[in-house]
Amino acid sequence: MAGSTPSPRKSSAERFRHAALAAALAAGTASFVDGGRAQEGAQAQGKLRRYAVVADAIPESLTGAKGDPERGRAIVVNRQVGLCLLCHSGPYPEEKFQGTLAPDLKGTGARWSEGQLRLRIVDARRLNADTIMPAYYRVDGLTRVAPAFQGKPVLTAEQIEDVVAHLATLRD
Ligand code: HEC
Repeated sequence: MAGSTPSPRKSSAERFRHAALAAALAAGTASFVDGGRAQEGAQAQGKLRRYAVVADAIPESLTGAKGDPERGRAIVVNRQVGLCLLCHSGPYPEEKFQGTLAPDLKGTGARWSEGQLRLRIVDARRLNADTIMPAYYRVDGLTRVAPAFQGKPVLTAEQIEDVVAHLATLRD
């Protein structure tokens, strides 16, 4: 009877959908996390600002200035720009469908210094080589980057500073 047993056609279509989704996710993750070289090459080409990592932090602002927490909040909740809520949840009551793959961003400003937050956004792989979190300020060591995005970090140095300034306000 229809409905009592799944038709073979439907289940293979579903299997295909799952396989396609898994492949898309793997490709997306690979574009963020593949490769291993540090960004000296890109920095030498002048594409990224230089920064110094001290322990688990980048103590100095990438721009030399403080970011704007309001702009940073807008970047974090924007599904095209920061995409943070794909994985994270956070204190953004107006946002439906927040992520469940990563720690809640609530209280991050109390847990981490600005410098620690900066390194986590710039290149989380430096702290955890297997992380699924994208390196937001890195242009090398990536694969399958669409031509329009090649040579450009996901966020600009200014946007990184805005995000750091916002996260620093999440203190409870
Ligand atoms: C593809 C999933 C993904 C996306 C997108 C993502 N993150 Fe993460 N993030 C993680 C995971 C997973 C961790 C946990 C630590 C790890 O695996 O490196 C993490 C850790 C963090 C941490 C440290 C949190 C803690 O309390 O330990 C901060 C801060 C952070 N992310 C901020 C952001 C911001 C801001 C954005 C957007 C600009 C973002 N993340 C986008 C997956 C993601």
